[in-house]
Amino acid sequence: MTIRSFMFVPGDSEKKLGKADALGADALILDLEDAVAPARKPAAREMVPAFLAARPPAARQAQLWVRINPLATPEALADLAAVVPAAPDGIMIPKADGPADVARLSHYLDALEVQAGLERGGIRILPVATETAKAPFALGDYAAARLERLYGLTWGAEDLSSAIGASGNLGPDGEWTLTYRLVRSLTLLGAHAAGVEAVETLYVDFGDPDGLLASSRAARAEGFSGRIAIHPSQVAAINEAFTPSVAEVDGARRVIAAFEAEPDAGTVQLDGRMLDIPHLNQARRTLATHEKYR
Ligand code: COA
Ligand code: MG
Repeated sequence: MTIRSFMFVPGDSEKKLGKADALGADALILDLEDAVAPARKPAAREMVPAFLAARPPAARQAQLWVRINPLATPEALADLAAVVPAAPDGIMIPKADGPADVARLSHYLDALEVQAGLERGGIRILPVATETAKAPFALGDYAAARLERLYGLTWGAEDLSSAIGASGNLGPDGEWTLTYRLVRSLTLLGAHAAGVEAVETLYVDFGDPDGLLASSRAARAEGFSGRIAIHPSQVAAINEAFTPSVAEVDGARRVIAAFEAEPDAGTVQLDGRMLDIPHLNQARRTLATHEKYR
C-alpha cells in the first residue's frame, strides 16, 4: 500500500498523540528522535508502545510507524526493544549512512519479531537517506543491497546542513541550494533504482497551504509517491496532491484505450502525440493509484 502522507507526531506529547487518530494521514510517524527533548525520551519510550498496543494492527485506520534514534546512539536499541512487541508497521531510521545501516536494523528486527511472536519481515523500513555527509554517496547502493524490508527512501535537508557545517540550505530566491537539490534528485533516482517509493521531505512553512500543494504536486509529477507532514493542516493537501486528479485519470484511461484499440502496436498516437510503452505503463500506474484511493 502506497502511503501518501506520513504525519509526524512527537512521541512524548499526550495532547498530540490524543489527536493523531483523527488527522486523516495514511501513516503516522510516532517520533522518538529529534521532536523529543533528551529528558523526555524515557517517557516517549513508554508512551509510544502504549499508543501502538492500544491500536492492534487489525484495528488500525492509519499505518503506525516509529522514528527511532540513530543507530549510532545507545538509544536505538532501547527504542526497538520497547516498540517492536507492539507491532509497528514500520520504522523510520534517521541519519542512516547507507544500506548497511538498513541491513543492520533489519537483522535487529528479525530477532525482535521472533521474540515478540510476530511474522518475520512484517515491519518495513524507511531511512532518511541524506542526513549525513556520507549518505548521499550511498544513494545508488540501495538498488544492489536487496533489502526486503525497504519501503522507500526519503531525504532531509536540516540535518545534512548541520552535518556539513552549513549556515543554511536556501538561496536568496528561497529555493534549495544546489547541494540539497542534488541529494533530492539522487534520493528520487536511488529509490526507483531500488524499486521502492520515493518520499518527499517536509514542507517547513505550515502556514503556506498553497505553496505546500504546489510543491507536492510538482513532487508527484517528478516521481515521488508521498510526503512527510509536520502539522495537521498539511495532511489533506498532501493526500490530495499524491492522488491522481480527475483529468489525469481521464487521460490515463484514454491512453490505455488507444493501445487497446491497436493490440499489436508498440506505439500509437493520441491527439497528434506519439505514445509508446512507457506512456502505457505510466497510465496503468496512474489508474492503479486512483483505484487504491477512491
Ligand atoms: N500531531 C498531532 N496534533 C498536532 C500536531 C501533531 N504533529 N501538531 C499540532 N497538533 C495539534 C495541536 O496540539 C493543536 O491542538 P489544539 O487546537 O487542540 O490546541 C492543533 O493541532 C493546532 O496546532 P498549532 O497550535 O497550530 O501548532 P503547535 O504550536 O501546537 O505545534 C508544531 C506546532 C510544529 C510544534 C507541531 O505541529 C508539531 O509538533 N509537529 C511535529 C513536529 C515533529 O514531529 N518534527 C519531527 C520531524 S521534522
Ligand atoms: Mg532530523
